Amino acid sequence: MNIERTLILVKPDGVARGLTGEVISRVEHKGYKVVALRMLQADRALLLKHYAEHEGKPFLEPLVEFMMSGPLVALVAEGNRVIEGFRKLAGVTDPTVAEPGTIRGDLARDQGTKVIQNIVHGSDSVESATREIAIFFPEL
Ligand code: RTP
Ligand code: MG
Repeated sequence: MNIERTLILVKPDGVARGLTGEVISRVEHKGYKVVALRMLQADRALLLKHYAEHEGKPFLEPLVEFMMSGPLVALVAEGNRVIEGFRKLAGVTDPTVAEPGTIRGDLARDQGTKVIQNIVHGSDSVESATREIAIFFPEL
């Protein structure tokens, strides 16, 4: 069956703009199942773990600051090929060039900030999904 799980974050910009429901709605309307959900205020230690792959990159510190700037919503979605499927729903990283029809293409734009603010995070592989889900949902 090859059912996968992915970690989705509604980042602080998405939560602040009241787009949590819109993101969850797109995930559900696509047909994926939400199997875990929580709102939290992330701290530096948690974010450095989550973003370990970006260690040493110039955008890491502004990214961590941005991700600590307000509450975020973490959820786990499940379904066949959900990792790839949610990345398609999200659109490419830069919201200016993300295709209309995608979450980033429809709902985000360049805000002139130090780091790209783009509403959502989605795991990019089975390995990242497993690692990231364990960080945000240790009980799963
Ligand atoms: P995500 O991890 O959030 O799903 O996004 P992604 O895979 O498309 O992008 P990634 O390369 O993993 O980068 C993580 C997040 O860091 C911010 N970023 N800013 N040059 C920049 O200003 C820059 N590069 C990356 C974005 O918020 C990106 O989503
Ligand atoms: Mg990424």
